[in-house]
Amino acid sequence: MKILAIESSCDETAAAVVENGRSVLSNVIASQVEQHIIYGGVVPEIASRLHAEAISGVVDTALKQAGVTLEEIDAVAVTFAPGLIGALLVGVNFAKGLALGAGKPLIPVHHLRGHIAANYITFPDLKPPFLCLVVSGGHSHIVAVEDYTDFKIIGKTRDDAAGECLDKAARTMGLNYPGGLNLDKLAVGGNATAFSFPRPKVDGAPFDFSFSGLKTNVINLIHNAAQKGIELNQKDLGASFINAVTNLLCENTLAAAKEYGYKKIVLAGGVSANSVLRKKMDEGAKLNGYEIYYPELKYCGDNAAMIGAQAYYEYQKGNTAGYDLNAVATMPIDDVRYE
Ligand code: KG4
Ligand code: ZN
Repeated sequence: MKILAIESSCDETAAAVVENGRSVLSNVIASQVEQHIIYGGVVPEIASRLHAEAISGVVDTALKQAGVTLEEIDAVAVTFAPGLIGALLVGVNFAKGLALGAGKPLIPVHHLRGHIAANYITFPDLKPPFLCLVVSGGHSHIVAVEDYTDFKIIGKTRDDAAGECLDKAARTMGLNYPGGLNLDKLAVGGNATAFSFPRPKVDGAPFDFSFSGLKTNVINLIHNAAQKGIELNQKDLGASFINAVTNLLCENTLAAAKEYGYKKIVLAGGVSANSVLRKKMDEGAKLNGYEIYYPELKYCGDNAAMIGAQAYYEYQKGNTAGYDLNAVATMPIDDVRYE
């Protein structure tokens, strides 16, 4: 089954053709990063307009690169939630038009489910059940993936997402957007214990996260130093901050795997590209006898191939939508509704 998938939830306009959930025939991404850099983050209004400009060409290229016509496609999939509403609407409306015009089924895909499915592309034999740490710019979840379309949230952030926290630290340090990625690069070789940060825990919820205190802590540290004219070692600060964030992510994930008896741990989302997180999870998994999986770097950030992968399993479950499908800005991964 060949699925044409579209993703436009944030700042990448993406389209891909994926066969049977695992094989990527094409994967095209038009990134808007350059246009958002001067603002230090994604400007929703600009994102929507750029999606509208790019989407037709991106979809066309994805079909051409896959060597298929729209008629040869079996279904059209699209990210419909969660994300920036104006950005999502561009993809959803374009997908509806294509599906309606070509008489193909329409498969709505939850963005975070797509991030998890990126692993099915990288590991063709990977199957649920497994435990997944989903860490992106807007979400930080520990999710029990009981089946391809059956999810249970075991832990989540009470405030900021891990990616948001890294982005904010990077921005305060004067690094360009996307901060998490640039901080990761800057911190290579830095001393991860040069600065100490708190280890916030959520009372009574051992698998939940809280990142806002860490974020405030690093911002205050940088501002205080600036006021006193003290120059902080950027590499050491970056490495120490990443160390603090990834320690929380790893500790809770490993504890959840132990508590719930999972032997397979999967990482997903933009932050799963982080080199320190990968290394720590590798070490933690080895120590505890767990298998660890994370997507190839090109499938960690937003892309449409991951949406096409998840769409295949949604379709098997009968999760298709009418041509009146709407985009939704917030929706939990374990309670997906098509409006
Ligand atoms: O999944 P994603 O591409 O978009 C959302 O769905 O939010 O995640 C974006 C997040 C941003 O916060 C970005 O800074 C972060 O992923 N990110 C990284 C790295 N690459 C991207 N964070 C840490 N290390 C990286 N190498
Ligand atoms: Zn994402």
